[in-house]
Amino acid sequence: AIVGQEMPHEAANLHVTGAALYTDDLVGRTAGTLHAYPVRAEVAHGMVTKLDVTPAYDVPGVVRVLTGDDVPGVNDAGVKHDEPLFPTEVMFYGHAVAWVLAEDLEAARKGAAAVVLEVDPLPALITVTEAIEAESFQGARPTLERGDLDAGFEQADHVFEGVFEFAGQEHFYLETHCSFALVDENGQVFVQCSTQHPTETQDIVSHVLGVHAHEVTVQCLRMGGGFGGKEMQPHGFAAIAAIGAKLTGRPVRLRLNRNQDITMSGKRHGFHASWKVGFTAEGKIVALDATLTADGGWSLDLSEPVLARALCHVDNAYWVPNIKVAGRIAKSNKTSQTAFRGFGGPQGMLVMEDILGRVAPKLGIPAHELRRKNFYTAGQTTPYGQEVRHPERIASCWNQVWRDGQLDRRMAEVEDFNAAHPYRKRGLAITPVKFGISFNFVSFNQAGALVHIYKDGSVLINHGGAEMGQGLHTKMLQVAATTLGVPLDRVRLAPTRTDKVPNTSATAASSGADLNGGAVKDACEQILARLEKVKADATEELGWDDLVRKAYLDRVQLWAAGYYRTEGLSWDASIVQGNPFKYFAFGAAATEVEVDGFTGAYATRRVDIVHDVGDSLSPLIDIGQIEGGFVQGAGWLTLEDLRWDTSDRPSRGRLATQAASTYKLPSFSEMPAQFNVQLLQDAHEDGAVYGSKAVGEPPLMLAFSVREALRQAAAAFGPEGTSVDLAGPATPEAVFWAVEAARANA
Ligand code: MTE
Ligand code: MOS
Repeated sequence: AIVGQEMPHEAANLHVTGAALYTDDLVGRTAGTLHAYPVRAEVAHGMVTKLDVTPAYDVPGVVRVLTGDDVPGVNDAGVKHDEPLFPTEVMFYGHAVAWVLAEDLEAARKGAAAVVLEVDPLPALITVTEAIEAESFQGARPTLERGDLDAGFEQADHVFEGVFEFAGQEHFYLETHCSFALVDENGQVFVQCSTQHPTETQDIVSHVLGVHAHEVTVQCLRMGGGFGGKEMQPHGFAAIAAIGAKLTGRPVRLRLNRNQDITMSGKRHGFHASWKVGFTAEGKIVALDATLTADGGWSLDLSEPVLARALCHVDNAYWVPNIKVAGRIAKSNKTSQTAFRGFGGPQGMLVMEDILGRVAPKLGIPAHELRRKNFYTAGQTTPYGQEVRHPERIASCWNQVWRDGQLDRRMAEVEDFNAAHPYRKRGLAITPVKFGISFNFVSFNQAGALVHIYKDGSVLINHGGAEMGQGLHTKMLQVAATTLGVPLDRVRLAPTRTDKVPNTSATAASSGADLNGGAVKDACEQILARLEKVKADATEELGWDDLVRKAYLDRVQLWAAGYYRTEGLSWDASIVQGNPFKYFAFGAAATEVEVDGFTGAYATRRVDIVHDVGDSLSPLIDIGQIEGGFVQGAGWLTLEDLRWDTSDRPSRGRLATQAASTYKLPSFSEMPAQFNVQLLQDAHEDGAVYGSKAVGEPPLMLAFSVREALRQAAAAFGPEGTSVDLAGPATPEAVFWAVEAARANA
């Protein structure tokens, strides 16, 4: 079969040669385009008292300045209706209050600078702790509960308490936000947009324009990375471009430069967690009582579902019989935080992994043993009431990492090394991953596809998913070719558009291949069934081309719309209970690091991963996703440091880390010297497309092993049994302070 074969990304050649087209590349192909530039407030919170746009019109090249008065429909860009597109209250430093359209970008920039904007400052909440103290919250406050906490703590031989505040993460996709809008002679709007959610972009553009959905088409050719940052955030930018095109009759291009993108668009939520946990003397978790506060920024955006996923992943791979986790969303004067690979799952799991890493030395149990003995076993359910099917796969991945990574030998070597080196220490940690697949919101678990077979036997497929580098299109080509039984080169894929497949869900929650694969397969099977009849009626054996030709002549329909919905799901968000996931993806990773005691600088010496992707649809793609996810996770946990100005100066609330020069991303020098990734074998998943499992997000959380290895290396600078609190992110600077704290223990 073509599924399961190793093949490069369908656009790999185009990516590496620079020939691949992104939204902004289409601009140069269209004459008369106007360029959009934002007018931004330089205060974290305040009321607009004056907005005089007339001076902008004195700048040569300026064609139109867009303000709230220009909105034909609803002045709102949020799915929760709490995001005025043109605000009168500035909610974060750099909030755009108007947009200038001009013949070229430079004229638009000068026009924006000429606009007179006055803002009356208001008090601003910048950190999550400030928001908590001010009781500034937004949205629902769900609580996850199971068992009896009091009884659990009574059984506990050891009780620990702690607080952990950790940072969010900038997506830093290579392609910044970009929309390009055109209007035809009937006023029909076409928006080419870098969006993970074309249907929702269409919905928001429609309601901002005050038109029906069928008057707006959104197309996404491909994205230069999304990582969740283009699930919700593109809509407002698309709406600005669309208003501009409607009002001027000319094409409008809105592309943020890096600096604008990083300071205007939402990021991964930082969290604040306070917890109390009980263990038996043997190290079994018996109770967990915690409060998680997600720092939502200025509006709700996707904060509620992100929080729900955090609650659903606090357990990670561990059985917690008695548990109560309260969740809430802080409202602060920052960008509106949003989806980011893992969608809250990483934040929930980090709380648990941090607890285990901190308390293991206090319990006198090696961290790997403490983790191992709390794994889910057969028949157990998650705190939200879903049975964990195939829990044995957690141990399978773990054992294989242990064996192939030669952990027994290498742990002994690390001990020897540490005994012999006072100023350098190594750590070797292993951590598991269990991650639920499907959207918690049940309705989103549906997808459509449109498959055409032309008279010459060639095949064109459309599906509702968007390509952001993750290899979804490659997998869909493989699914179509396999189902139809034709060679791969007979199948082509057309850009994702809302007028081909309507009412699509975001390409998110790692479910793109599951959902759209199901829909593509369904469409192909419908056509195949019709072709079978043609074949049965034929007097001779027919090859594919002749069969298709005969079907056409016999007036048999050669195209089909496919549909898929995931069965067996249920979810009650108000009580945080149900069966929200079709299945769980599992994995384990072991990481060895070496820390320099003078500086806290560290190197990642070796990483071993075994990850469960079911029967892989496309092994090279999956391994790439695992490597990329792991590195992105390691960046979040150990390098990337978002710093907002928390001073009382006028620059309060300004993001200080606005570029790759000050925001440290993983680069070649931070790659593991040895990086071994294996797919769990014989891992067929019943009921998923060709037995495969989703892969996009779960591997990010394998990077907990890096953080835990750093903790152990830092602890090795102190006496036996030293427990280390690590900051999140555990940057070299933070590791240095952890080393100092460990030394002070002596
Ligand atoms: N891989 C690349 N190269 N670029 C991306 O933007 N996004 C991730 C993941 N892998 C991303 C990626 C995120 S956040 C998700 S939810 C999934 O891909 C989405 O795609 P899928 O559902 O097809 O796996
Ligand atoms: Mo991914 S965070 O679900 O787009």
